[in-house]
Amino acid sequence: RAFFKPILNSAPPSPTKRHTKISVIGAGNVGMAIAQTILTQDLVDELALVDAKPEKLRGEMLDLQHAAAFLPRTKIHASVDYSITAGSDLCIVTAGARQIPGESRLNLIQRNLALFKLIIPPLAKYSPDCILLIVSNPVDVLTYVAWKLSGFPPNRVIGSGTNLDSSRFRFLLADHLDVNAQDVQAYMVGEHGDSSVALWSSISVGGVPVLSFLERQKIAYEKETLENIRKEVVESAYEVINLKGYTSWAIGYSAANLARSLLRDQRKIHPVSVLATGLYGIDGGDVFLSLPAQLGRSGVMGVANVELTDWEAQQLRNAASTILEVQRQLEI
Ligand code: NAD
Ligand code: LAC
Repeated sequence: RAFFKPILNSAPPSPTKRHTKISVIGAGNVGMAIAQTILTQDLVDELALVDAKPEKLRGEMLDLQHAAAFLPRTKIHASVDYSITAGSDLCIVTAGARQIPGESRLNLIQRNLALFKLIIPPLAKYSPDCILLIVSNPVDVLTYVAWKLSGFPPNRVIGSGTNLDSSRFRFLLADHLDVNAQDVQAYMVGEHGDSSVALWSSISVGGVPVLSFLERQKIAYEKETLENIRKEVVESAYEVINLKGYTSWAIGYSAANLARSLLRDQRKIHPVSVLATGLYGIDGGDVFLSLPAQLGRSGVMGVANVELTDWEAQQLRNAASTILEVQRQLEI
């Protein structure tokens, strides 16, 4: 403190803005990609990292701290002890097994359910008012598990869901149409994974609805091209995992983008995994699936009233049935 001399007649420091804190659980490929993206965005005052491997965790913490001269000021700390997460505004869970090449996300459930039983209760204990953002796979089922284990209201338990699939979709559409992906509005909804649903009628570029434009101009309706783009979205993660062993950068940006909307109360619409029971005829139990949801400081503020075709709604209900079937076999 003595390092600075007060100037004459200076007033005591005015209260600074509210302290904000994010905890990231799991300091693997995904957790660290999310952590570093959050740091570059000047989102929080404090970032806490938790992992089960203390050496790896300390190494990652030091490596990030050593970038302090190039980044907005953020207090970074790390521990295997969950008490460091106390008072978090947002806890992002990335810990867990990941797919080996060719393995489906749903196949990870038993291993990751066991971890969630160790992870979610202490997070809920140390940060009872936080928002939980689940990233570990299978993300829709684990978001349901986290909701059950935390006892939180459903608006404060969110899965990163198809926010990533939608970005892949927008990238591929932009590439095909030779435009900027940020000008492409397009949603993938439903399960993050093999049964995700492309909302074709939602695609617009610069406010021009693409499908009706093609129809009006009597341009051959590129059904096959569009279906190939959807398949490519679904295949994307498998391809990246085959090539580099895991996916990390895109989910890093996706989760940091969600963190910004939540903590900065942006009220933006993101396709994320939310409690979808009762919507679009989904019934038979509690199930989390991605739908375009408005995100703000209180978490999920509502789900956009998107008009789905009968076929799209049926696809959603099919995904819900698959997930409910998996959930019925779990002992939470
Ligand atoms: P990784 O193996 O690199 O990292 C997992 C980390 O979890 C490891 O550091 C491990 O030590 C840690 N861990 C294990 N048990 C723990 C515990 N009890 N407490 C705290 N930490 C624990 O894997 P990854 O590539 O970072 O992937 C992590 C998860 O994210 C996987 O389930 C993967 O499928 C998922 N993922 C999801 C998306 C998405 O869009 N939802 C995208 C990419 C990856
Ligand atoms: C993804 C992960 C593997 O990148 O779910 O889609």
